[in-house]
Amino acid sequence: MNAKVIAIANQKGGVGKTTTCANLGIGLAREGKKVLLADCDPQGSLSISLGHSQPDAISSTLATVMGKVITDTPIDMKEGILRHEENVDLLPANIELSGMEVSLVNAMSRETILKQYLDTVKKQYDFILLDCMPSLGMLTVNALAAADSVIIPVQAQYLPAKGLEQLLQTIGKVRKQINTKLKIDGILLTMVDNRTNFAKDISSLLRETYGASY
Ligand SMILES: Nc1ncnc2c1ncn2[C@@H]1O[C@H](COP(=O)(O)OP(=O)(O)OP(=O)(O)O)[C@@H](O)[C@H]1O
Ligand SMILES: [Mg+2]
Repeated sequence: MNAKVIAIANQKGGVGKTTTCANLGIGLAREGKKVLLADCDPQGSLSISLGHSQPDAISSTLATVMGKVITDTPIDMKEGILRHEENVDLLPANIELSGMEVSLVNAMSRETILKQYLDTVKKQYDFILLDCMPSLGMLTVNALAAADSVIIPVQAQYLPAKGLEQLLQTIGKVRKQINTKLKIDGILLTMVDNRTNFAKDISSLLRETYGASY
């Protein structure tokens, strides 16, 4: 077993990244797949939505294991990983992860710290889903560098075209420089209300613009 790693990314906030990550993960687990959900957002929304209402009180998180990769400290097999009753594993995050953006700046191989960690747990899972934070900073670059593919949730209520271009550009750069096998699984329209013409227009515009290439 060698997990497929999927990053769920969009630097635009509130487009449904965390919701997609939790639902896709639990759906895959119901199909009998072994799933790890990694919260890559210092806001800890994924950790909160999976029942950890006080993520800042969790002592071992993604920041802990990434910190250990940076300092070359051995990591216990299950370190930081919490079991959820819906049969998914969760690597939580909290505010400590925001310090990681800074620590990464001076780390050696700073773009691949998350990848180096995931490589140590990959064999235990079929899928690892990475819930990215709403930014294109070092943590998101780490997620893209570690991923086999990326899903881009986009809200259908209005067209954040410029932001999408910027994200696609970042993905292109990561692909060129760090992770040549990175694929785009697709642009996922979220919160679509198909009763409105506006949503229909946006859906078809996105399909026309990006449908052929992704
Ligand atoms: N398909 C959906 N239908 C209705 N509401 C949704 C859907 N997906 C997400 N939401 C709601 O939209 C809000 C934002 O969703 P979510 O937290 O998943 O976005 P996000 O992209 O992870 O946000 P952030 O950028 O802050 O991390 C939440 O209140 C969520 O319940
Ligand atoms: Mg989120």
